[in-house]
Amino acid sequence: MNAPHPSSAFIPADLPEPTYADLAHLPGMEPARVPVLRTIDFLKDPLGRSAAMVERYGRVFRRQDFGGWGVSLIGPEANELVMFNKDKIFSSSLGWNPVLENLFPNGLMLMDFDEHRIHRKTLSVAFKTEPMKHYLGELNSGIARGIAKWSGAPTFKFYPAIKALTLDLAAASFLGVPWGPDGDKINRAFVDMVLASVAIVRKPLPLTQMRRGVKGREFMSAFFAAEIPKRRGVAGDDIFSQVCNATNDEGALLTNQEIIDHMNFLMMAAHDTTTSAITSLMHFLGQHPEWQDRVRDEIRAVKAETGGELTYEALPKLETIEMVFKESLRLIPPVPSMPRRALREFTFMNHVIPAGSHVGINPMITHRLADVWPEPEKFDPTRFTAENSKGRHKYAWVPFGGGGHMCLGLHFAYMQVKSFFWHLLADNRIVPAPEYKGQFIMFPIPKPRDGLPLRIEAL
Ligand code: HEM
Repeated sequence: MNAPHPSSAFIPADLPEPTYADLAHLPGMEPARVPVLRTIDFLKDPLGRSAAMVERYGRVFRRQDFGGWGVSLIGPEANELVMFNKDKIFSSSLGWNPVLENLFPNGLMLMDFDEHRIHRKTLSVAFKTEPMKHYLGELNSGIARGIAKWSGAPTFKFYPAIKALTLDLAAASFLGVPWGPDGDKINRAFVDMVLASVAIVRKPLPLTQMRRGVKGREFMSAFFAAEIPKRRGVAGDDIFSQVCNATNDEGALLTNQEIIDHMNFLMMAAHDTTTSAITSLMHFLGQHPEWQDRVRDEIRAVKAETGGELTYEALPKLETIEMVFKESLRLIPPVPSMPRRALREFTFMNHVIPAGSHVGINPMITHRLADVWPEPEKFDPTRFTAENSKGRHKYAWVPFGGGGHMCLGLHFAYMQVKSFFWHLLADNRIVPAPEYKGQFIMFPIPKPRDGLPLRIEAL
């Protein structure tokens, strides 16, 4: 455990840990004889099991997972209550700490309220137009290089390939480290940290993933610590250099440790989510060649208009890939559920939920509610035309979260996706391998069970 964070003053000293008895008045699960078996069963089919619980218990229910008791709140209204967090009832840090604090302490999602607001504002300088334009240049050249290797190659597994490419892209645009051996070492250390953050064994015992994760963190922290003095006061276009020179409203720079923690966290927040999102897009586009054609036609039209490379100004013109991306995020959200902890008692849909409750909201299920999304299983990007989006609840589609903790990198993610498909689809076609099963492991971050074997066929 890390020392309590400075912002933890808002946490009531006597915040209880509600038990089954405290939640017994809610509909929901009964205690399992062997709780771990329940978790194992859930992990076999998170989507099916969660949907069955909503069917059985409704949109507010008691659940037992990973050994503890919590409350699930389902639907747009629940998302608004928790994410918008008007009355400051819900703590993000207390929700995410159990998963992230060992390896990614003090990242934005592990802060709350004033401290969070100040840090978020300071970091947002790295996502303004000028630096974004620079990142797009890095993305364009790295993606073009990566795709050139795939086009015309025999069948390969897409998921590991895009994971590696996303890491290389991050080394360039996040860290300003050119592709090569240095980038590879950083990638390895970083992958070890991410894997450890979801490892079952939470202690860094010898030979465990957690031990490798802790070593990875040491490596990354040493890398950042050595680089920070070289980046301070020097104009640099990568995210790391931007963060090294970012100041708060009083003009103060972040401390070295704050920069290390934010950078580790930013890379973690960006990496598996983007990898998962692009993989799901490949899955749906592979299954719906008519949408590949529509995306390609648009890319070619924009290319003809703007000439050559994808520019920052041309991004909004790529409306079709944006709709396909949104529909893909609806069906396979990279962050399927989000944890919070209630700092005070609250009432939702006539249910009184006690202070201290572990509260989970669930985009994966909200995105498939039939009263919000007619024919929810159908892949239909036209749901996201301006016309069809009218009147939809603001919190019905929440792959990037919402409210104060809404994804800080969402424009970066759109940009990376647009750049990727610009380079991929203009002159190629996605051809899923005949043996591809089309099944996703939906939790904790979705990925295809068999790695998504496919070919990229040059046109
Ligand atoms: C498709 C890709 C992505 C998805 C689906 C996604 C999703 C999310 C979600 C759901 C949250 C909110 C979690 C919560 O409230 O509990 C979040 C937060 C965050 N994301 Fe993303 N993300 C993506 C890409 C990125 C990228 C590329 C970056 C950085 C360049 C990034 C940086 C962050 C940060 C810093 C936060 C914390 C914000 C805060 O707490 O104020 N994400 N993301």
